[in-house]
Amino acid sequence: MTRHPLKTFIAAACALAFSGLASVASAQQSVEVLHWWTSGGEAAALNVLKGNLEKQGVKWNDMPVAGGGGEAAMTAVRARVTAGNPPTAVQLLGFDIQDWAKQGVLADLNAVAAKEGWDKVVPGALQAFSKYDGKWIAAPVNVHSTNWVWANKSVLDKAGVTTMPTNFDEFIAAAEKVQKAGFVALAHGGQPWQDATLFDSVVLSTGGIDFYKKVFIQKDKAALGSPTMLKAFDRMGQLRKLVDKDFSNRDWNLASAMVISGKAGFQMMGDWAKGEFVAAKKKPGVDFICMRFPGTQGMVSFNSDQFAMFKVGGDKAAAQAKMASAVMDPAFQSAFNVVKGSVPARTDVSDAAFDDCGKKGIKDLAEASGKGALVGSMAHGHAVPAGIKNAFYDVITRHFNGQIDSKAAVKEMVAAVDN
Ligand code: BGC
Repeated sequence: MTRHPLKTFIAAACALAFSGLASVASAQQSVEVLHWWTSGGEAAALNVLKGNLEKQGVKWNDMPVAGGGGEAAMTAVRARVTAGNPPTAVQLLGFDIQDWAKQGVLADLNAVAAKEGWDKVVPGALQAFSKYDGKWIAAPVNVHSTNWVWANKSVLDKAGVTTMPTNFDEFIAAAEKVQKAGFVALAHGGQPWQDATLFDSVVLSTGGIDFYKKVFIQKDKAALGSPTMLKAFDRMGQLRKLVDKDFSNRDWNLASAMVISGKAGFQMMGDWAKGEFVAAKKKPGVDFICMRFPGTQGMVSFNSDQFAMFKVGGDKAAAQAKMASAVMDPAFQSAFNVVKGSVPARTDVSDAAFDDCGKKGIKDLAEASGKGALVGSMAHGHAVPAGIKNAFYDVITRHFNGQIDSKAAVKEMVAAVDN
């Protein structure tokens, strides 16, 4: 059967129209974002950014790589960059940003940074990681800090813990009361980065701010091998006695859930834990308590999530610049961090929308920064580069699991720096 010429014309016209639509669709701007924000609170926070970009017509291609602290995500990034096909933006921490910058694979964000005046509103402690060779290469989305404790209020009431511990020994006494009352005292997940997160705080609490700087920032071998370090490891041993038998390899958000549900009294974790409490509709002061790790009041060990922008082809660069700008938008920095549990990476964002823990976080950060008590978190890549960090992780974890004693751990910390 021969086809009527008019039908052929219509078919051809339709095909043309559809291919036109297809090319409009493929011309839509998009960003591919690699991150490890897969817990309830983390995903809710990320949705704020996704929604803002979609309102601007930028499609969000999500590339989540589960695994707290980001270790698995870093392996995925390496594979993509090695294959010559990096994502548009990658969630990175501290020294990892600088490592990628050194390899020449990050984009130059100076044009957008200059237009929006980032230099004036991002604290120097963050800029040290967001810039390389005078160029902005990453957009900081928040400031987290690791020296926090999260507690279930009704568990503490039931256990008769009426005053909050202000030093390490008081904490142990309170936790033992919680344990005696039949609860898990310390909700913890035995993963190297979580053990190291405890260690950040224990070192701060045991040695104070100058000692922390000596061991983790200056990598001073005398301090690393000192009796204070031995005491810090002994204290890790005390904390080990407060966790339940199923702690091995538990994800951090499941440990938070134990506190939220009233199974456990305390969790020692960065303020991303608050994101889980918020997602579960819990109220600070009513359902849960946030406090600085006992003995670290006035000090802040920080980490900052930044979206490092990788060099991508010309067609993707416009969407990338839009994303960088969306991350630095003051209204976004408020909305995102209220959900995430962190505080804004800009100093000019009001604390009005934040709950009491968030307000305290913002105030603590400003005060600590003003008096030299703000330090980069070792556990979260802001004190030493990945090589040394991983060597420290290894020692801390083997000690926490009883494979080496405190004396051996101290020796190995010194050796980790040497190697
Ligand atoms: C990141 C947080 C994240 C946490 C747990 C930290 O290193 O800075 O944003 O929520 O790891 O995954």
